[in-house]
Amino acid sequence: MLQSSRYRRFIAGLAVVGVFSFNICDAVAQSAPTPPMGWNPWNAFRTEVDEARIMANAQALMDTGLADAGYRYANIDDGWWLRRDPDGEIRIRASIFPSAAMPDGSTSLRPFVDRVHAMGLKTGLYTDIGRNNCAQHWDRDSPNLPEGNQREREVGTMGYQAQDARLFFSDWNLDYVKVDACGLADYGPAFAGVRDGTYRKLAPLIDRRNAANSEAPIVEALYAGFAREVRRFSPEALLEICAWGEADSGNWAGRYGNLWRTSPDIRGTWEAMLANFDSAAPRSLFAGPGHWNHPDMLEVGNGVFGPADLVEARAHMSMWAVIAAPLILGVDLTKVAPEIIDILGNRDVLAISQDPAGHQGVVLAQSAKGTVIARPLAEPGRKAVALINRTDEPLVLGVDVSHLHFDPAAGVDVRDVWRAEGRHVAGGRIEAQLAAHETVLLLVSGQPAEPRVMFPADMPARFDVAESGILPAAPGLRKIWVPARIGYLPSGAPIEVNGQRDFAALGVGSGSRLRFALDGEFRRLATLPVGAGRYAIYGDGKLVHAAGAEDAQPVQIDVAGLQTLDFVAPATRLEADTFVWSGFRLER
Ligand code: GAL
Repeated sequence: MLQSSRYRRFIAGLAVVGVFSFNICDAVAQSAPTPPMGWNPWNAFRTEVDEARIMANAQALMDTGLADAGYRYANIDDGWWLRRDPDGEIRIRASIFPSAAMPDGSTSLRPFVDRVHAMGLKTGLYTDIGRNNCAQHWDRDSPNLPEGNQREREVGTMGYQAQDARLFFSDWNLDYVKVDACGLADYGPAFAGVRDGTYRKLAPLIDRRNAANSEAPIVEALYAGFAREVRRFSPEALLEICAWGEADSGNWAGRYGNLWRTSPDIRGTWEAMLANFDSAAPRSLFAGPGHWNHPDMLEVGNGVFGPADLVEARAHMSMWAVIAAPLILGVDLTKVAPEIIDILGNRDVLAISQDPAGHQGVVLAQSAKGTVIARPLAEPGRKAVALINRTDEPLVLGVDVSHLHFDPAAGVDVRDVWRAEGRHVAGGRIEAQLAAHETVLLLVSGQPAEPRVMFPADMPARFDVAESGILPAAPGLRKIWVPARIGYLPSGAPIEVNGQRDFAALGVGSGSRLRFALDGEFRRLATLPVGAGRYAIYGDGKLVHAAGAEDAQPVQIDVAGLQTLDFVAPATRLEADTFVWSGFRLER
């Protein structure tokens, strides 16, 4: 793929991505220290949106207390454009955003943004990384599509990255931008709107049906370029990459964005919610303060998560909280039931979601029936545990205290967050009887089984998947492939050593590089590398250990004083080959 002529031609016209990605990383880390919280009109209104509806929902954030609980962004999604003028400036559809009409005939979002800011809230806008947007393809009957000739209907950022970033952040003073990718996916020759000349053709850079066909390096370079312009005009703005996990975006988006979508659009059904959850849940090693996996906006209050389905509504909310997903509300807050507000505003659940350590929960067990996830919290000896019943039947789920790295002999204190009840568990295993579709969300406090040792699942946010290595070409495998996981291989198979699950293993793809932030806190690393070929470990960028994994020799390395460790798995060039850093432990 790197060799394709399309890529070579394109890359010649771009700045070298690697040179500026470091600065961008710094900027990314300053914003969104915890998962962003806010409201977006898309799930409730699609393109039938207007200023009055958004202002009414912003007001509702204030009136319901949800703003106080942390939901601070009242955003705009698709539907706001009128056209791009010949001088490149974007005009707003003032018929639905009346405050945008300026006395001199121009348009500006500034009055709207100022009003939202005066309420104590923040606001964000929606755009596309290609030339055209999503509604122009997917909502062709919408009354709110861009107008004018073919060029004037090209409202996306392609070719206008600097101009649009200046307009959004310098002129309009926005706080957030969601950057969609339909412009790269949906304007190929097969689209009727291209065939009839309404839209200009763009050879698709994203192939939604075959991930290996997407031009991932070009898509990455486009987002990198826009991120650079956004940071230039507003270092603290939030940038959402909405490429739905396509073009391997889940593997690189954290370098440029504060949040990135990991899946197609959510819908208000149980199956759609689970599918979106599953797209983000295995990706704990990619998330951390400043950068978050985003399985899409909440449907709590909509569809099967409404006031008649509080079990499902709580389950959906618990799942997003335990995996540190952004909490972007998608319900019309002017009509929402009080029971739904209580769920969205539950302070104990939000404390888990917004825990300052910023670890994404780690999957401990996964089957068609249930999922068990544990999220380490900032307070030592505390974890949030979600027991998730995926089925339509009652189910018993549980977790061994030792798998949470707590001492079973000492017992654990367990608090059921939704039921607001506590108990002491002595027997070494926490269990719960779950109703159909129920998630039980627990706060578990215990004594560390080995107080001086840290395992990967205790600190996923300190890892960075610096290189994803060789990705499989097979479309099905490519879709589910997570280049680095805790306790699982990239394909999703649990890691077992001598018939026992290895919860401390890191399963990675061949040629991957995993960086760990030691920050001088640890004395010793121990692990058993398992796989084929020569691997290498670097401390502060210098080689500290390299060997052939076939020897299956345990490794112990003195890491005292080091700031970073890099784990480079052998690049065997065999498609879908994997490597395991088994029994991984860092000792203080
Ligand atoms: C989709 C995106 C949705 C919404 C929509 C607008 O691509 O995933 O969240 O923004 O476009 O047309």
